[in-house]
Amino acid sequence: MMQKLYIKTYGCQMNVYDSDRMQDLMIATGYEITESPKGADMAIINTCHIRQKASEKLFSDLGRLRPFKEEKRANGQDMIVAVAGCVAQAEGEEIFKRSNLVDIIVGPESYQTLPDLVGKVKREKSKQINLDFVPDNKFDNLVANKKGVGFSSFVTVQEGCDKFCTFCVVPYTRGAEYSRPVSEVLDEVKRVVERGAVEIYLLGQNVNAYHGADKDGKNCSLANLIRQIAEIDEVKRIRYTTSHPRDMSDDLIKAHGEVEKLMPFLHLPIQSGANNILKAMNRKHTRQDYFKIIEKLRKSCPEIGLSSDFIVGFPGETEQDFLDTIDLVEKIGFAQCYSFKYSPREGTPASDKDIQIAEEIKDERLAKLQNLLTKQQIEFNKKFEGKIIPVLFEKEAPKSKNSSTKQILGKSPALQSVIVEVRDGENLENYYGKIKDVKIAKSRPSSLIGEI
Ligand code: SAH
Ligand code: SF4
Ligand code: F3S
Repeated sequence: MMQKLYIKTYGCQMNVYDSDRMQDLMIATGYEITESPKGADMAIINTCHIRQKASEKLFSDLGRLRPFKEEKRANGQDMIVAVAGCVAQAEGEEIFKRSNLVDIIVGPESYQTLPDLVGKVKREKSKQINLDFVPDNKFDNLVANKKGVGFSSFVTVQEGCDKFCTFCVVPYTRGAEYSRPVSEVLDEVKRVVERGAVEIYLLGQNVNAYHGADKDGKNCSLANLIRQIAEIDEVKRIRYTTSHPRDMSDDLIKAHGEVEKLMPFLHLPIQSGANNILKAMNRKHTRQDYFKIIEKLRKSCPEIGLSSDFIVGFPGETEQDFLDTIDLVEKIGFAQCYSFKYSPREGTPASDKDIQIAEEIKDERLAKLQNLLTKQQIEFNKKFEGKIIPVLFEKEAPKSKNSSTKQILGKSPALQSVIVEVRDGENLENYYGKIKDVKIAKSRPSSLIGEI
């Protein structure tokens, strides 16, 4: 009998990629995936440490797993519980102390050892922990994808961060910057397109800091890597995330104007529109730098859709600083954004400043900012009404499942969700993985409605 593996994933796209790799590793040792923890022989919780709320989810999840583990034990079996990801890296042994449910703690740079750790738990009946930082060893030991890949496939090309923004845990949980060699990335891209992927989504905590070795041992830039991937026929679309303004080089900006397969969308987190706050955050860019980058990008690729991350209520943020953020947003005009209340993270420099902002003020600022960002998103989407755009179809729209008229869901070049109604009796499968021209009839705040 196949063993059943349940995986729950939190956090960024890189965690999604890592969960898929852990899944591949365990499938290779005789597991199959189950959607429910009930009856599972193993459960992995792949965690995120970025904000307090995200990391607390681990312990509520462990609470929910308890009855399932006890049920297995009552039947003379067991459920091996593994905690992976950034909370595992940050809290380590503490997790064993807080929950006796946990058998394995494994970090984001050492999960290639998971099958070994599972073997040891089974043989020795002992708890296992591995938090080593060995990214090159990690990629060398990942097994090829066993499960089907989607039409859009993540490929991690860079890991870690050396930037040490004063609010952020990532340099501690993911370690120093590391770029995978070009040949290894191209091999993985070829492997996923063979399995049906048409869009390649390059990932890295600082993806535009990519500097992987090419075949002559020289550093290859992200722009250059993108150009090489674009030469693979089966690849129809390329995206990348997340970028840092400091690494937004001219050759990458140029690629946006020249490489047709590179989609006109960029997620470029700025965090704040106030220079003194950016300085206190150790971002090493100013609002003027950001305006300059955007101006160049729009010259290179006029239709580019822009996205960003913002933090409100960073320690010491005054009303004027906040208004500088609002002003920057108004001047740039974004397609969609993420915004967060500052969350103090233990061990990061900003967390012990005695100029923390009151929660009510953070709430107020976040609401104002999100209000403006939603307005901009609606305006951005509205501009597409009446236009014809190429859409990559991926799956049935969620609402369509219980309705008689069938709808399919795809992505526009600027990453908007596009919903299209399919004629009666038509096979939905004919659309999946295909790029088709869609006339946009209507726009909604977070999607476009169109027809083929
Ligand atoms: N590498 C990316 C972002 C990684 S984290 C970059 O440099 O921009 C994703 C987002 O989470 C960040 O952009 C930031 O907006 C947010 N974030 C990180 N730490 C946070 C904290 N302590 N409180 C609130 N938001 C935070
Ligand atoms: Fe965190 Fe800053 Fe690194 Fe982004 S650049 S991951 S925000 S430390
Ligand atoms: Fe979270 Fe780790 Fe990603 S902290 S955002 S899962 S790098």
